[in-house]
Amino acid sequence: MAMVCLTDFEEYAKQHLSKATWDYYAAGADECCTRDDNLLAYKRIRLRPRILRDVSVSDTRTTVQGTEISFPVGIAPTAFHCLAWHEGEMATARATEAVNTCYITSTYSTCSVEEIVAAAPNGYRWFQLYVYRDRKLSEQIVHRVEALGYKALVLTVDVPYTGKRRNDIRNQFKLPPHLKVKNFDGVFQETAGPEEYGIPANTLDPSISWKDVYWLQSLTRLPIIIKGILTKEDAELAVEHGVQGIIVSNHGGRQLDGGPATIDALSEIVDTVQGRIEVYLDGGIRTGSDVLKAVALGAKCVFIGRPAVWGLAYKGEEGVREVLQILNDEFRLSMALSGCRNVAEINRNLIQFSKL
Ligand code: FNR
Repeated sequence: MAMVCLTDFEEYAKQHLSKATWDYYAAGADECCTRDDNLLAYKRIRLRPRILRDVSVSDTRTTVQGTEISFPVGIAPTAFHCLAWHEGEMATARATEAVNTCYITSTYSTCSVEEIVAAAPNGYRWFQLYVYRDRKLSEQIVHRVEALGYKALVLTVDVPYTGKRRNDIRNQFKLPPHLKVKNFDGVFQETAGPEEYGIPANTLDPSISWKDVYWLQSLTRLPIIIKGILTKEDAELAVEHGVQGIIVSNHGGRQLDGGPATIDALSEIVDTVQGRIEVYLDGGIRTGSDVLKAVALGAKCVFIGRPAVWGLAYKGEEGVREVLQILNDEFRLSMALSGCRNVAEINRNLIQFSKL
């Protein structure tokens, strides 16, 4: 089967993964309005292409936190890659290393951070962090990933509690016995009681607040990027607290149902931040023109969650590479067809704000 676009990988994954695994990856919270709107919102945006601009040569490279990547698309942190492919996050790491882009490793990886780094020693990686009630756990993992050469910490702030994902409840989703949250292997072994997504329920700290950003800064010299901001008020607070980046994200619609599509939330955040720190986005990116629209509205880079997992389900490392390559090809084509020769030429003039 020729894979032409990202939804081809989605179809493949749906057909080949077990129902419980497919449902887990696909899940949104409650009625999935926000999950679905993440995609629909792109279809409401129209472009203003420029013509006759000699697009015979095009350059998709950009930088994030000062590091060059091949195009403004990285991999968002998603849990449990071994559910989709036996080599799990090691395959994802190799693919992103080969394509030269950024891979944000989830705390809930089914390979350890040491295994991931060993699999792709030259890859560019950030680490996604949750804050636990037991702060020592968070501290230890921060020191581990810093020593391993991770280049930034991505603090996910939209999970004080886990969103209500109906199918996971119906399926009584559990990691199969041969898989573990590898970074905490042994740590939770003694704990009895209910489990939620591979760790004991109530492990995350719902009392986390802005002062914990200072606590995190006291632990590490790595740049801190906050993932899960959707308003200009919180964007301003993030800048005031001295973080180095924001990921505009609603967790792929898996947390608060009824929140905005991320592309709709982007502009007020970019306007507030005014270039003081980098603003990124994830949620609903499925085509090269989605990437173009997000970059035109001010995202320095976007990240894909589910499409990377579909790539893994298709062919492991090769599948993730194909997903990224297709997105790169589509992005390059959209750039050229709208008259952009490089990423610096993509700006708000490309977006049609009024349809009069
Ligand atoms: C996620 N996401 C997520 N985010 C995070 O900070 N830590 C995590 O462990 C996970 N795990 C996770 C698992 C699965 C199966 C999904 C689908 C998502 C959210 C993720 O980083 C990102 O915000 C969304 O996936 C982006 O939306 P798309 O690209 O999936 O539409």
